[in-house]
Amino acid sequence: MDWPMRIDNYVAETGFPRSLFMGEDGRVVGTWIMGNNYRVKSAYYGGYPAGYLRRVRALFPDKRHVLHLFSGKVDLAAFSGDTVDINAQFNPTYIDDAQTLERVPLGNYDLVLADPPYSVEDAERYQTTMVKRNSVMRALQRLSPGAHVVWLDQVLPMYRKDFFAIEAVIGMVKSTNHRFRVVTVFRRQLGEEDVPLPV
Ligand SMILES: C[S@@+](CC[C@H](N)C(=O)[O-])C[C@H]1O[C@@H](n2cnc3c(N)ncnc32)[C@H](O)[C@@H]1O
Repeated sequence: MDWPMRIDNYVAETGFPRSLFMGEDGRVVGTWIMGNNYRVKSAYYGGYPAGYLRRVRALFPDKRHVLHLFSGKVDLAAFSGDTVDINAQFNPTYIDDAQTLERVPLGNYDLVLADPPYSVEDAERYQTTMVKRNSVMRALQRLSPGAHVVWLDQVLPMYRKDFFAIEAVIGMVKSTNHRFRVVTVFRRQLGEEDVPLPV
């Protein structure tokens, strides 16, 4: 499925205005203004604003194996999938550290939604230490080529360009007095280690 098709499906499925566009460099750029739909249904600190998962799901109707990373109290009714969190309290599919993901069979998933703590102060709210974003991206290199990572953050994580390409950058405006965030969509590329050795 190419990006013009994803954007058309987003508009048709959500009914939201067309706010994502193909840039001349082949990347998608755009903005999501969450409007009245910004509240967090679960009331969990840092939880996805209502409507976020519906938007992402509409962009990826072809994905069958979804993993919510840093899952917290993610609303699985809005976008079902398996879950990973370091905290056991919300009963994730995998209790694991996103920086290593040793317990997660990443090759089984074709879409990862990641919502890390944004700062040391945020991490304290979850009683965790701040994550090293580059370590998470390194762990995600074990995804199969073609898998996508949808990363919601205030920072672009460091990543290896031979493993990941940025396909979309979407600014997210929640409401007054909330921080701006950016949704970066990475596609797992064929890396050097994926290329079969000549026989
Ligand atoms: C911003 S919240 C995610 C909220 C989620 N999107 C929701 O809608 O409920 C960040 C989550 O990351 C988890 N977390 C923090 N450090 C982690 C780590 N090293 N590995 C896995 N999860 C971690 C926290 O427990 C917290 O639930």
